[in-house]
Amino acid sequence: MLSIEQTREVNELTALNQDVQDWHASHFPHEFKPFDPVSMDSAFRNILDQKDSFAFVAKLDNKPIGYILCFIKIRSENAFQYKKSIMLIDQIMVKSEHRNKGIGKNLVAEVEKLAKQLHISDLQLDFWEANKLAAHFFTNSGFKTFRIYMEKHII
Ligand SMILES: CC(C)(COP(=O)(O)OP(=O)(O)OC[C@H]1O[C@@H](n2cnc3c(N)ncnc32)[C@H](O)[C@@H]1OP(=O)(O)O)[C@@H](O)C(=O)NCCC(=O)NCCS
Repeated sequence: MLSIEQTREVNELTALNQDVQDWHASHFPHEFKPFDPVSMDSAFRNILDQKDSFAFVAKLDNKPIGYILCFIKIRSENAFQYKKSIMLIDQIMVKSEHRNKGIGKNLVAEVEKLAKQLHISDLQLDFWEANKLAAHFFTNSGFKTFRIYMEKHII
């Protein structure tokens, strides 16, 4: 049976994170470190200690198979822009053998539900341009490009 529950269990997130960290490390070796369970455990612990961080885990027959991690981000009002609160999806991952069954969409739906409860009207996220799977998934989940980051290597 599939269940999706909010979690603060660091161990579950660390174990699930390996695939996504390894993907980033193999595509962008100068930016991302190889997966290291000890430092990842401590990173998730620090993240989940913040009251504005939330994680949901998808479980199949009580075994973790995917997760989503999000934060509330508040931009204060300044001379240029109005105040805005957004729910930022920082990470999402479903184990490869369980993909294409709607689990990713269910995880995003949980974050949408939470954001609505907190009266936050917008979800945002970013992903690496090379991650075509993510582009396809997020577009099909209703996300639209609203800002573009560019870089130029000069050395
Ligand atoms: C991106 C990711 C989370 C998507 O998870 P997923 O569980 O495969 O996503 P879903 O199953 O909800 O949606 C994928 C497809 O399955 C389809 N689907 C939904 N319900 C379905 C069902 N019951 N049966 C079959 N297919 C279904 C969806 O329509 C969608 O297809 P489409 O996009 O071609 O229309 C997953 O591919 C992943 O973990 N990728 C690696 C990590 C990553 O890149 N994360 C993003 C950057 S941090």
